[in-house]
Amino acid sequence: MSIPVLTIDGPSGAGKGTVSRAVAKKLGWHYLDSGSIYRSLAIASLRQNINLDNPQEITDVAARMRLEFDCLDELIVKLDGEDITAQLGSEQTGSVASKIAAIPEVRAILLQKQRDFKQLPGLVADGRDMGTVVFPDAKYKVFLTASAAERAVRRYKQLIEKGIDVNLQKITEEIEARDRRDMEREAAPLAMAADAIYIDSSDMSLEVVIQEVLNLIR
Ligand code: DC
Repeated sequence: MSIPVLTIDGPSGAGKGTVSRAVAKKLGWHYLDSGSIYRSLAIASLRQNINLDNPQEITDVAARMRLEFDCLDELIVKLDGEDITAQLGSEQTGSVASKIAAIPEVRAILLQKQRDFKQLPGLVADGRDMGTVVFPDAKYKVFLTASAAERAVRRYKQLIEKGIDVNLQKITEEIEARDRRDMEREAAPLAMAADAIYIDSSDMSLEVVIQEVLNLIR
């Protein structure tokens, strides 16, 4: 029996995480947050004080790191046995993750770790290259995006709610820089698969997006 896979790709801040988790929960499928794998590698690399401009050192860290994922209501990630969930979301982690994700050898090492998530009864995989590289044969593919301005406002609100003092202009610039890096890199750039459904969530509530994705499967 083939295992159904739904891929949800798109830029950061488009709502992929929220939509993917909600859809996985509704369907009772597994959930792969591929960004958290790159983010975990960023944390491991920063901790080991390695030279972030040296691809070989980062590739060695990627080969050695041991990751465990637990997705009950929230995603819990352990790096070499230690819970690092609280550190995954920081801007620094995201920006270092985006840099090291451009290294082809790093992507090659992380490929199998991601494919191992494909298990019965099904998988929702969220990232940048899920439908193009990691699961090109996926039965269902979505490309979820929103304008950079809208994504910046969403991120700004999230951070303000957490009591973190931020500047909207700076967040917009960071988002645009990350988009450029993720789209312009040579190794598995952020791109829409030819057979994906395009959803622009700029003017949609997350509930509506979730329903639209579920309709695709049912
Ligand atoms: O989705 P996210 O913001 O957690 O991802 C963090 C970074 O990881 C993102 O800027 C690029 C990289 N990434 C990637 O290259 N490929 C993926 N499938 C997922 C994330």
